[in-house]
Amino acid sequence: MNVVQVSAEIAPWSKTGGLGDVCGALPAALVGRGHRVVTVSPRYKAYDGAWDTTVRARIHLFGHTHEVGYYHLNRDGVDHLFVDHPSYRRPGIYGDDSGTYGDNLFRFALLSRAALEVPLRVPLGGEVVGEEVLFHCNDWHTALLPVFLEGIYRSAGRFPRSPAVLAIHNAGHHGTFEAHEFAGLDVSTRWWPACDMSGRLNCLKAGVALAAKLVTVSPTYARQLCIDHSHGLEGLFSHRARDLWGILNGIGEEWNPATDKHLEANFSADDLTGKVASKAALQRELGLPVRPEVPMFGVVARLDHQKGIELLMGAAPWLLRQDVQLVILGSGGAAYEDFVRRLAREAPQRARGIVGFSEPLAHRIEAGVDVFLMPSRFEPCGLNQMYSMRYGTVPIVHATGGLADTVQTWEPASGAGTGWAFREFSTDALMQAIGFALRTWWDHPDAWRKLQQNGMRRDFGWDRAAQLYEALYLAAYGR
Ligand code: ADP
Ligand code: GLC
Repeated sequence: MNVVQVSAEIAPWSKTGGLGDVCGALPAALVGRGHRVVTVSPRYKAYDGAWDTTVRARIHLFGHTHEVGYYHLNRDGVDHLFVDHPSYRRPGIYGDDSGTYGDNLFRFALLSRAALEVPLRVPLGGEVVGEEVLFHCNDWHTALLPVFLEGIYRSAGRFPRSPAVLAIHNAGHHGTFEAHEFAGLDVSTRWWPACDMSGRLNCLKAGVALAAKLVTVSPTYARQLCIDHSHGLEGLFSHRARDLWGILNGIGEEWNPATDKHLEANFSADDLTGKVASKAALQRELGLPVRPEVPMFGVVARLDHQKGIELLMGAAPWLLRQDVQLVILGSGGAAYEDFVRRLAREAPQRARGIVGFSEPLAHRIEAGVDVFLMPSRFEPCGLNQMYSMRYGTVPIVHATGGLADTVQTWEPASGAGTGWAFREFSTDALMQAIGFALRTWWDHPDAWRKLQQNGMRRDFGWDRAAQLYEALYLAAYGR
């Protein structure tokens, strides 16, 4: 199959969270199964090794014609295209210190339109991909692609057999805009009902209504979208439930403790000495007492309402009265960042908070800490709990979405389980789970080792997911 994957982020070139990781990893896994995959994402800056194809497309949007260029590089058999336009070359992906960019509807509508031109006009390996192609869109940013596919191309006889699939990584963001902006999209008003939600232009809704198939990143979140987790789209998701798949994300090879280049020492399930060294190195790096015996807790997250930071704020005073260490790395909401900044002041021997985004430090935290906290209010999939398990770090999570699907609560009697998944979204429930972990750490070191190994032996590779995506694509063609 020919697949064009379109997304606002793609790691390692652009990333604010898991969307970038997934869009960076899935294409290579699909190529491994014999498919041809082209990714299309914005050229936010110059990327090493990406060359100007010299192809230009002229796209009419918001009353003007805009010229875009395409930069190309091939890695692991995947053709990556970066769409070049002045509106992408800014400090942030979605916004900067002054807030969200005011022209995001234009920027991402342009991306979808530019992606639709790729199979028609960008030669890759000597010739264009052609019209036999499946478009895989991701989140609200590219959820208008099915509108353009139907409203501009298919109505002109182009792409007669090409389906669009929409992947929902986070239904917390719909991409809503004033109704009058619809006119700027340059499609017939016939398509307004699909885009309209309560009198506003809603990009995610348009994609959910028009894509041939829908997929989200865990089976539990797929069910939740139909019940209470989609902010008003529950009815539409229920209506389309037969077309909505839940496919759990995988994790990439850059998150492998045996080969991770960011670590002080590498390690594996059979030999955890490198993890002990990584913990000591992290304690030194953070200026905390180097104590192998003390349980060390870690958090790496976007500091967003989604992530349940309130629960951490509620539990922190109690937790930091125990003999523990805590490190939090994240950036986002001002009140959450204040909390993170205050940690070291309030518990200088026990806690550190780093406000910022650092890929290498995120790896060193995953490797160095003993327990990873992820009390998300909702979590479509979540990658950090899987990274944790792979690194012998025991996750404590709120049992929602993909967290519920990946973390199995420890059962001392059978020796099964990989962490603790608490059911009620409350500080008390989080503290109770931390209490179980502390007791296991101090009183049952053998059980702790088993917990670590259970997690490290789980298979979170991309192959299983890629196989399911292939089945989804075939179903999309069949529809
Ligand atoms: P989400 O996509 O909702 O942010 P995920 O768990 O799916 O949640 O993915 C988060 C990804 O972003 C992980 O790769 C995580 O390590 C990374 N990440 C989040 N915040 C930071 C940060 N401050 N510094 C480095 N990496 C971060
Ligand atoms: C989103 C979700 C997260 C998921 C990621 C990748 O950002 O918040 O749960 O893991 O996308 O699919």
